[in-house]
Amino acid sequence: MTIGRARIAYGGDYNPEQWPEEVWPEDVRLMQEAGVDLATVGVFAWARIEPRPGEYDFGWLDRVLDLLHAGGIGVDLATATASPPAWLARMDPGSLPVRADGTQLWPGSRQAYCPSSVTYRERALALVERMAARYAGHPALELWHVGNEFGCHVSECFCERSATRFRDWLRARYQGDLDRLNRAWGTTFWSQHYGEWEEIAPPRATPTFPNPSQGMDWRRFGSDELLDHHRAERDMIRRHSPDVPVTTNFMGMFRPLDYWRWAAEEDVVSQDTYPDPSDPAAPVGVALVCDLMRGLGRGRPWMLMEQASSRVNWRRRNVPKRPGQLRLWSLQAVARGADAVLYFQWRQSVAGAEKWHSAMVGHDGALRADVVELGRELAGLSDVVGASVPARTALLFSWENWWSLSQPGQPAWDLDYPAEVRRWYAALWSANVAVDVVPPGADLSGHALVLAPLLHLVTQADVDSLRSFVDGGGTLVVGFWSGVVDERDHVRTGAYPAALRDLLGLVVADYAPLADGAAATVRLAGGETCRVTQWTERLVPAADTEVLASYTDGELAGLPAVTRHRHQGRGVVYYVSAPLAPAAMAAVMDRARADAGVESSAAGLPPGVEAIRRGPALFLLNHGDEPVDVSAEGTDVHLAPRSATVLRSPRPPG
Ligand code: GAL
Repeated sequence: MTIGRARIAYGGDYNPEQWPEEVWPEDVRLMQEAGVDLATVGVFAWARIEPRPGEYDFGWLDRVLDLLHAGGIGVDLATATASPPAWLARMDPGSLPVRADGTQLWPGSRQAYCPSSVTYRERALALVERMAARYAGHPALELWHVGNEFGCHVSECFCERSATRFRDWLRARYQGDLDRLNRAWGTTFWSQHYGEWEEIAPPRATPTFPNPSQGMDWRRFGSDELLDHHRAERDMIRRHSPDVPVTTNFMGMFRPLDYWRWAAEEDVVSQDTYPDPSDPAAPVGVALVCDLMRGLGRGRPWMLMEQASSRVNWRRRNVPKRPGQLRLWSLQAVARGADAVLYFQWRQSVAGAEKWHSAMVGHDGALRADVVELGRELAGLSDVVGASVPARTALLFSWENWWSLSQPGQPAWDLDYPAEVRRWYAALWSANVAVDVVPPGADLSGHALVLAPLLHLVTQADVDSLRSFVDGGGTLVVGFWSGVVDERDHVRTGAYPAALRDLLGLVVADYAPLADGAAATVRLAGGETCRVTQWTERLVPAADTEVLASYTDGELAGLPAVTRHRHQGRGVVYYVSAPLAPAAMAAVMDRARADAGVESSAAGLPPGVEAIRRGPALFLLNHGDEPVDVSAEGTDVHLAPRSATVLRSPRPPG
């Protein structure tokens, strides 16, 4: 199920409860002027809908939905459970979340609930039941929006109720066998053995490092526990409203939630994106998140559920979007698979914590001109709606791996998984190579090149999938510190990296992080050099493994840094033993692309110009501050700074 529209949806979070009713008809009139056709309603309206426990007031919401419908505007209706009213905490103080150090969080902002709270869940589901029953047949209803940004502020709770739920979750995972849990957690270490289930607690503040295997299960539980509630709300909706798709908005690379598991439960994937306008690297990170969303939806179109029209209000300094960036970044999302462009929020609040967050309509009551222009332009892009984004390169991304890299007591504590993934992705982004983001263990047969940066944790299924990809002739690039632990965060024994060393054609004799301030030099076969910091490895290549780059100084002088190995006469496997600088990374990627036969979507474009094919369109985006003249699809194009153009491709749609 998708939102199944003929045009790109345009709109934003609409919070009419913040405004007198006289303003609502003006809202609808302005929405029409802006080309808005989808409004997300009710996200934080629980206290307005249920001002006192069990006392519901739906009249105002009925009128809002009727008004929107009469104005031709569809509704993405939120279940309103993202932020419980103050009465919930009064009714049950145990519904409030507790941090690892025992501090309880109070109401007065938002999301003040323990994910496991029985009272929260019961009251939330009672509300959802009424919402779903009441609005299932409403003609404005196009989409259900469960909660909002699950886990954004509170993704875990360390209270007694959470401890009980954690133990229940563990009993299920280990089939009630405490010995299995003890083995999986390696509890012979530091006298951590558990003789009774009741002895097990969440990883609360401890004297020193908590058990990393326990940490893995705690994170899995945390993601599953919120998902469990999401599922309950979704199932309640489906009982009343089986034909309307359901979503919840994601937050890109958000560590606490394993979105691979979450996305499997969504009818359509949706995402909130807030890049920093002053960050020159923002377009790369955003492109990666767009590709991740497409991957989470298994290639289907996704929704940009929230973006800012200009400033946010939650950074230390909140700079406005620069001229052109709103359009540029919106088109970037569409180019990378979005079929909806929505904002937080429609009308800028005058009170509350977000009154200085930009909106589509400002404090002056006027629509932003760029918002109106964008609405018009998106209406002309209907031919890309539903179209896929073809890619022959797959980038592996895994939350479980991220969690294992976040466990205490590692050789380097500051390895930043998303940053390393971005470093790899940037090399392809700069060359305008389309990338699919996929989970380890995925079917890789549709791809020619697979990238595995910093894939520390691998299950046997992950290894098998990489092996069969390489056996099938694929080209694989593996990053440092990969293939080292299993899903329990136990080291895979044998020479490092035990799970992958025959594929790589080498042994890692030692992992050698660099001291703060220290650097090593790597020289590529072409003679170019680059400085690396943070991490190096002592590699011992097999006789048939080619050395593409070597360390030239320090303890590792003369030893390989980057290798290439043809595995049993089939596919080719690269190993990159350090976080390479961009030029060196690009050189490795170019070489691997040549092996894999992976081409650029539009070669030879100036730096900062992004090219993406989606269906019949080639999107050209100039993120730079200088104008550029480029040639693509047999056309000469002039691109002003921070501007974009959409060309129709003579190629068959992908
Ligand atoms: C999102 C949230 C919105 C709003 C927005 C501000 O995280 O879903 O409700 O707070 O951020 O940028």
